[in-house]
Amino acid sequence: MSISRTGTSNPIWGGRFEGGPAALMRAINSSIATDKRLWRHDINASLAHAGMLRQQGIIGSEDGEAIVQGLAQIMDECARGGITEDDALEDIHGHVEARLGELIGEAAGRLHTARSRNDQVATDLKLWVRWAIDSALHDIAALETVILDRAEEHAATVMPGFTHLQSGQPVTLGHHLMAYREMLGRDRSRFEDARRRLNECPLGAAALAGTGFPIDRDFTATALHFDGPTANSIDSVADRDFIVDYLHAATLCANHLSRLAEEIILWASQPFSFIRLPDAWSTGSSIMPNKRNPDAAELVRSHSGRIVGDLVAVLVLLKGLPLAYAKDLQDATPPLFDAHDLLHMSLQAMAGMIAEIEFVPEKMRAAAAAGHATATDLADWLVAHANVPFREAHHIAGRAVAAAEFQNVALDQLDLADLQAIDPRIGEGALAALQLDSSVAARTSAGGTAPDRVREAVRAARAQRSKP
Ligand code: ARG
Repeated sequence: MSISRTGTSNPIWGGRFEGGPAALMRAINSSIATDKRLWRHDINASLAHAGMLRQQGIIGSEDGEAIVQGLAQIMDECARGGITEDDALEDIHGHVEARLGELIGEAAGRLHTARSRNDQVATDLKLWVRWAIDSALHDIAALETVILDRAEEHAATVMPGFTHLQSGQPVTLGHHLMAYREMLGRDRSRFEDARRRLNECPLGAAALAGTGFPIDRDFTATALHFDGPTANSIDSVADRDFIVDYLHAATLCANHLSRLAEEIILWASQPFSFIRLPDAWSTGSSIMPNKRNPDAAELVRSHSGRIVGDLVAVLVLLKGLPLAYAKDLQDATPPLFDAHDLLHMSLQAMAGMIAEIEFVPEKMRAAAAAGHATATDLADWLVAHANVPFREAHHIAGRAVAAAEFQNVALDQLDLADLQAIDPRIGEGALAALQLDSSVAARTSAGGTAPDRVREAVRAARAQRSKP
């Protein structure tokens, strides 16, 4: 869409002005470079508004038809060639209206009856955020699919479970991966919740006070697939909560990705070597030929910080803003788009990495064996088989750890005689309990790390997803 123009006074609001704005005024005021991304939603909202005006007899049928035809053509032009930016036309609303004027002449001027750019932009942004939420839900589902597959594949792969980044107890890799699936499930529900809450249509609030024209707000709300119209015209044009809701959900989701990214970075480092990153998800170094760097994971980690910044920018922008509309609100759009772009890329990159990472079970098992990670199993065995109170059993197991450290061996390499010297109640069965596989297999409590539980969790997650 390109528009040819003459004259200096603003075509949208220039009536009372003699001179045009200063060049810098134009530049600071213009948002088209950003909000051109709203074109599809802006035109759809105008189509709904035009249909309503015509149905209500507020504009004539011929003008209504011309407007609809013209808007359809602009939609087509935008889809093919994008938008030629003109700062004098300020924003996407100005651009579409000016182009409509070129195409259909005077009738174009009737489209803006009973509306304002204030309710227009609120409507466009809600439509865009709704789309962005659907896009995030789609990306999250794709990442979940990959996590479920890898978790099932590694339901019985033993790795160290950490607290304080110290080996705590052995867990299964599948269980560890499924922890991220839980986070993503909560992310999904936060996005769905934000979507439900935003789904009221501000169109018809006009500048801030509503309008005297006999508009039908249910008509436009339905045409744009909202649940209904908003209740208060002032709030309708002042509200950007839906952007904050979206950014909050995006921030937390990106935070989860950042934690996973951090683990990938750690696990790929030589001292860990729990994973090998495939070529497709690594970069080399310009000086050190040996390097294989986890840049994608590092960028997912850093992007999460930028998304936090986007959320904070909008919250600070809104704080203390008097009702109703103020131009400050225009500045909420760049952080919104930025967060979507970053999250979209991060979710996709993470799905790609998780799908292709090569896990190294031997390294994970060796690390799980270090650090006497089955000491709790010895204590549990004493409680279960020798009726020892847990606190006492904990001390006995602690002495076994000290003995292993003294001999410079792993806990499960002590023989029965060594253990019985510490406490004669320790029996043969305790030796088996100290093995990594029996340790994880024993943790069958609901939500526990036992391989059977992991497989069950994967099945449950898949069943839940296939529900309509
Ligand atoms: N470009 C503006 C925005 O994004 C549209 C609303 C302009 N309204 C106004 N009264 N100047 O907020």
